[in-house]
Amino acid sequence: MERLDKIISAQSTFSRKEARNLIRDGSVSVNGKVVESPDAMFNPDKDKLSLFDRPVRVRRFLYIMLNKPAGILSAAKDACTKTVVDLLPPSLYRRSLFPAGRLDKDTTGFVLITDDGDFAHRILSPKSKVYKTYEARLKRPLDEGACAAIADGITLADGTEYMPARVEVIKEQAQPLVRIQIMEGKYHQIKRMFAALDNEVISLKRTHIGGLKVDETLCEGECRELTAEERASLLKNLSA
Ligand code: URA
Repeated sequence: MERLDKIISAQSTFSRKEARNLIRDGSVSVNGKVVESPDAMFNPDKDKLSLFDRPVRVRRFLYIMLNKPAGILSAAKDACTKTVVDLLPPSLYRRSLFPAGRLDKDTTGFVLITDDGDFAHRILSPKSKVYKTYEARLKRPLDEGACAAIADGITLADGTEYMPARVEVIKEQAQPLVRIQIMEGKYHQIKRMFAALDNEVISLKRTHIGGLKVDETLCEGECRELTAEERASLLKNLSA
């Protein structure tokens, strides 16, 4: 059992105080009956919640796949710039949502947004060995030496160490398209790895988290909830 005001606040944009006022005002029903006590308890496994006479599907946590456009910040909130959480439709918005792992402002593709901190940690921790896959357009061709250096693990001049990563050329061109898979999510990691190899990332898109591919029916800026199977697939075979 959990406090009703906490449940309402977790499932909506209302604060705990606002939720208590809604309860006092008679705007909240549980199992078809108006509840007016702000101290009421709620069983998320059994009870049915309605707010303003509309049923609320109570979900402990949300797991959302967003196809991020360029120009959007990977953050929950920002005073000046639109964030990935700002792109969510009102039906999916909750104040506790955050992006699990950051993409640079100019990077596009798969962002996972959740309010389940434990889940996010398990997906992001390098110990879990969940590869994040990106497609990068490079300024110059990539030679075998550079591929071998990435596979061995690059150390930058400032001492930053990157774990071994996987790289393959998908389109052999003057400015090749490469697929690169990393387990960490260090600051500007892929851009800095290629810069250390005298190359440059012109554009970057995250296509997969683990074995899960960004839904190609989602236009940039669109999102949807993960299915239970997709969520389970992300947690399968974790090393930690
Ligand atoms: N590596 C980068 O350099 N940028 C990203 O957005 C993600 C990985």
